Amino acid sequence: MQKILIIDFGSQVTQLIARRVRENGVYSEIVPFNTAQKALDEMTDIKAIILAGGPQSVADKDSARAPQKVFEMDIPILGICYGQQTMCAQLGGAVEKSDEREFGRADLTVKKSNRLFDGVINEGDTQVVWMSHGDRVSKLPAGFEVIATSPNAPYAAVADESRNYYGVQFHPEVVHTSCGAQLIRNFIIDIAGCTGDWSMAHFKTEAINSIRAQVGDKKVICGLSGGVDSSVVAMLLHEAIGDQLQCVFVDTGMMRHGEADEVVSMFRDNYNIALSHVDATDLFLGKLEGISDPEQKRKIIGATFIDVFDAEAKKVGGADFLAQGTLYPDVIESVSFTGGPSVTIKSHHNVGGLPARMNMQLVEPLRELFKDEVRDLGRELGLSHQFVGRHPFPGPGLAIRMPGDITRDRLEILRKADRIYLEEIRNAGLYDKIWQAFAVLLPVRTVGVMGDSRTYDFVCALRAVTSTDGMTADYYPFEHDFLGKTATRIINEVNGINRVTYDITSKPPGTIEWE
Ligand code: XMP
Repeated sequence: MQKILIIDFGSQVTQLIARRVRENGVYSEIVPFNTAQKALDEMTDIKAIILAGGPQSVADKDSARAPQKVFEMDIPILGICYGQQTMCAQLGGAVEKSDEREFGRADLTVKKSNRLFDGVINEGDTQVVWMSHGDRVSKLPAGFEVIATSPNAPYAAVADESRNYYGVQFHPEVVHTSCGAQLIRNFIIDIAGCTGDWSMAHFKTEAINSIRAQVGDKKVICGLSGGVDSSVVAMLLHEAIGDQLQCVFVDTGMMRHGEADEVVSMFRDNYNIALSHVDATDLFLGKLEGISDPEQKRKIIGATFIDVFDAEAKKVGGADFLAQGTLYPDVIESVSFTGGPSVTIKSHHNVGGLPARMNMQLVEPLRELFKDEVRDLGRELGLSHQFVGRHPFPGPGLAIRMPGDITRDRLEILRKADRIYLEEIRNAGLYDKIWQAFAVLLPVRTVGVMGDSRTYDFVCALRAVTSTDGMTADYYPFEHDFLGKTATRIINEVNGINRVTYDITSKPPGTIEWE
């Protein structure tokens, strides 16, 4: 399979390069610079290399470099920002340190027509690009020439067209560089000669073949939560190995309204997938009694989930493989220059803790995909829109949308409010515009008046965010009428809530969930 190898030097936006390449129908993989040599030795059919950005200074002693092999392979290279600088430095040019960092919009003028800008910006024309750099190339290696400049970057784009080597100081992968996707297309299709026929249908066939080869005639068990990732994994495995797949749906008692029935009827009855439905409500709620600390809640739920799943796996006669919906962003080894472990904000619960304890091999067919590619694959597999387009729902469920103690009564109140909120969002045609929306039940009671009586009930907070990956998020700007109508319905229809607020915190500094 034709691929573009992207060598990462620690930039925050390297994943976007991989996205832009894949959007053009070419498979791409990211490797950190310090393991790139191994990847180059092992991978086949690398059609071109992209050297990505990074936070270091090429002018510093011991700063990161691309393996020299990159320049011995006789394939096209595109250096972006740090990648451009290290390419120039490694090929005999020079990079100048500068204290003035250049951020944001810059007017790029093409000085000489070339294959990278062909059909995108004509010679003499100018377009806006996005810059983010401190250092800059000060002397070109032999064979290179300047092909574009900006007021602050005399070497904004350089090339040695005889070798198909290109370097840009700006970031073509970010949306602010509006011509960026076309430049990347020119590089991978016209310059590198990729055919651009990598598609989800293609991916699906390959994934099915490799699952069959890995699993043979053994049994695979899969925790199916009804979320997009686990649903797509289940559909894919079912298509690959049919009855050798056994799914388990664990009802923690902290699911949303109607969720368990929806998942079970869709996958068991509609798609005919072997699915055991375990109602572990009593077990989970018993263990969580009196627990209000968010981290403790998460840990208890994670551990209990493993126990239940383990018992269930034994019941179905054991399995050699465990299927997981691990995605590409979880797999990419991040390059850290700061050293030291990163801070744990929240202990995420998913089935990630299972394999070590259960002694099973993993089947992770989504390891190479981004979230929206998983959705495309779901569509390709015929998964209904109801599941493909679902908002993410965290493993610990409503437990982390309920600061304070978890009780059956409070769960019921939250479920009702959440149901009304989502119903209103769907009715307003907003569901697909929002990354995630949910209600939160606060452990706070306030005084109100209903009819002629005093009420003293809980506060409900509504949350809705836009995001592309869940890492950063902004609150969704609902119309006031929408919020007013939803609040009125919740207060009128849900006993136990007499006040509704809307959360307008972005992430950071907030997180999406409240706990
Ligand atoms: P936070 O709250 O960290 O959430 O901003 C980011 C995204 O992750 C989801 N989330 C989880 N998903 N297990 C999951 O599978 C978890 O423990 C968990 N905690 C948060 C959250 O819903 C949001 O989409």
